[in-house]
Amino acid sequence: MEVDQNVRLSSGIPGLDEVLNGGFISGRAYLVRGGPGTGKTTMGMHYLLDGVAKNEPVLFITLVESEARHRENAKLKGTDITGIEFLDLCPDSEFFSQMQSYDIFASAEVEQGPTTQKIVETVERVKPKRVFLDSMTQFRYLTTDNVQFRKQTASFLSFLVEKGATVLFTSESMDATADDDLQFMSDGVIHLDYNTMERLVSVTKFRGSSFRDGHHSAQLTAHGMEVFPRILPATRSKQFVSESITSGIPDLDELLHGGLERGTVTIISGPSGVGKTTLGLQFMKEAAGRGERSVVYSFEESEGARSSIGPNRLGFRSARWPNAGPFRWSP
Ligand SMILES: Nc1ncnc2c1ncn2[C@@H]1O[C@H](COP(=O)(O)OP(=O)(O)OP(=O)(O)O)[C@@H](O)[C@H]1O
Ligand SMILES: [Mg+2]
Repeated sequence: MEVDQNVRLSSGIPGLDEVLNGGFISGRAYLVRGGPGTGKTTMGMHYLLDGVAKNEPVLFITLVESEARHRENAKLKGTDITGIEFLDLCPDSEFFSQMQSYDIFASAEVEQGPTTQKIVETVERVKPKRVFLDSMTQFRYLTTDNVQFRKQTASFLSFLVEKGATVLFTSESMDATADDDLQFMSDGVIHLDYNTMERLVSVTKFRGSSFRDGHHSAQLTAHGMEVFPRILPATRSKQFVSESITSGIPDLDELLHGGLERGTVTIISGPSGVGKTTLGLQFMKEAAGRGERSVVYSFEESEGARSSIGPNRLGFRSARWPNAGPFRWSP
């Protein structure tokens, strides 16, 4: 089937679509790789559910968690996954226990294996526009020969794509070289990372398109995955009037020759307790008094603590300042 570069399929995660310059290119196969619990399955679910929302036939080939488990999880999360067609190839399913052969893929010469047959039948019946396979690593364990695995995987992916599907498949890997064969044969690679501090998404390959490089923050919650594309200053520039921003304290403004220049960065430095936060907030308070919006990113004090002592300590005349604009104390 011919690939139309202009047809993009949404990943179902708006931030990831932005990173991918509009989404996956239709008729291709993409790898999502990462360690345990990094969100691989969640990402695939978003992809399939986006297809369901667009009335597309979608297929989930699962080898890790059973269909029943997925349905249970979806029920707990209140997500409707009835539109997703499952092919459950989990090792504990009856199907796998009856398997005699290691030849599981739909390569032209080995189409007799029961797993192969099941995949071929399901794909021909469902005619999926999107396929999510979780995970390809399980297939690797079933072949003793790496050459055979690569041949069968490549053949399997082209079978799915020729049937009109755009494929997302996962690999359980933290080591960059452990699944390099899968990275080479896929049309794009999305890496998911998780350390104690943060979740990160990055793209290292996206054939036929540019993408936003670097590490993008992500969040996994009960509602699924959210991706926050790295901010590139060049794409976010905005016109502004070059002027001085006053602190509202005449002596300080005089010291600063009228105030801080808009569009510049100023660091307030000093030892503990000297008044760094208070001084910074004075500018915010003055701005709020003029009806301007400010944002405070506070990594130490809570919003409640500061707003309760702030006005008194600073001698603010207006109590409106905490309500003016988006005022956030916590990241
Ligand atoms: N209700 C929830 N609230 C918050 N976070 C959740 C919730 N459900 C799942 N998660 C997060 O999602 C993670 C699991 O995501 P997911 O199953 O997509 O990862 P995975 O990469 O597929 O994992 P595995 O390697 O085990 O297959 C959990 O470890 C947890 O951090
Ligand atoms: Mg998973």
